[in-house]
Amino acid sequence: MQRKVKRPLKATKTSVAKVEGCKCVRVGKTFPHLHPFTFKPFSIIGVSPSYQMETPMSSQSYLIVGGSSGIGLSLAQLLHAQGHRVIVWSREARELINTPGIQHHAIDVVKDELPVDELPDQLNGLAYCPGSINLKPFRSLKPADFLRDFEVNLLGAVRCLQAVERRFKKADHTSVVLFSTVAVSRGMAFHASIAAAKGGIEGLTRSLAAEWAPKVRVNAIAPSLTDTPLAERLLSSEDKRNAAAERHPLKRIASAAEMADMAAYLLQPQARFITGQVIGIDGGLGVL
Ligand SMILES: NC(=O)c1ccc[n+]([C@@H]2O[C@H](COP(=O)([O-])OP(=O)(O)OC[C@H]3O[C@@H](n4cnc5c(N)ncnc54)[C@H](OP(=O)(O)O)[C@@H]3O)[C@@H](O)[C@H]2O)c1
Repeated sequence: MQRKVKRPLKATKTSVAKVEGCKCVRVGKTFPHLHPFTFKPFSIIGVSPSYQMETPMSSQSYLIVGGSSGIGLSLAQLLHAQGHRVIVWSREARELINTPGIQHHAIDVVKDELPVDELPDQLNGLAYCPGSINLKPFRSLKPADFLRDFEVNLLGAVRCLQAVERRFKKADHTSVVLFSTVAVSRGMAFHASIAAAKGGIEGLTRSLAAEWAPKVRVNAIAPSLTDTPLAERLLSSEDKRNAAAERHPLKRIASAAEMADMAAYLLQPQARFITGQVIGIDGGLGVL
């Protein structure tokens, strides 16, 4: 299920001297007690007044690779609703056709030339969301299976990151979010190919976090089963959904919006002391 962004609240431009909070576009009223990025009361999210004063609230530029479906779509819509410039690369526009204001370029990141010249000069963040779920017994996996998973999950990310690196360095702060899977930290039958490719993502996350610090932060999210088009076959009946939920200590599966919330947090300056991390959003499955 895709999240429909219905939030009426939009971030307002906030100067260092004055924190304005959120502005409700529909009624034209400002809500000074709400955080402009998370739309939650400052009292609940617990940020200090000095932090509020420092947070730059101007519009940022984000490239969401694979932002036309599932988690990437939810993330692109969330950042756009917060007032940021969002550019999406994916093979098809899909639901983005219904989201005016998000710039889409139709490319296959594995084999096409990347439209880097169409990007703004400075990028504040990139999320790489293409992925695969190719579950087979190890004996049935061909080298071509491993290669395909490696290409879309890892090499595509490497190509994108190398292509935009120069634009990261020009921005004041930049953050990268990559996607792993719970199947890397927890051994799972039939996951050999995808776990091998995503293991590469976790290694890349830490290496780049070290190489690009302090200017650029690099983190990864490791989801468990999430309700997106990618997982459609695994969630195609009530029985399958219930069985999947039952495997999680928190007894449910994740939504794309939950992943997008964490990705948006990591991309933005609130997370400015977090780098080199692989964050499990898995209902406890990875560790309990
Ligand atoms: N859903 C889960 O249960 C789950 C679990 C663990 C990890 N993850 C990881 O989370 C990330 C997001 O997954 P999701 O479920 O949101 O996937 P999704 O619904 O399939 O969305 C993937 C996005 O990537 C794009 N994409 C795929 N291949 C591409 C290519 N070669 N070139 C350009 N764009 C490409 C797709 O658009 P086009 O097809 O139009 O190109 C789409 O916008 C993935 O890395 C996945 O491995 C997901």
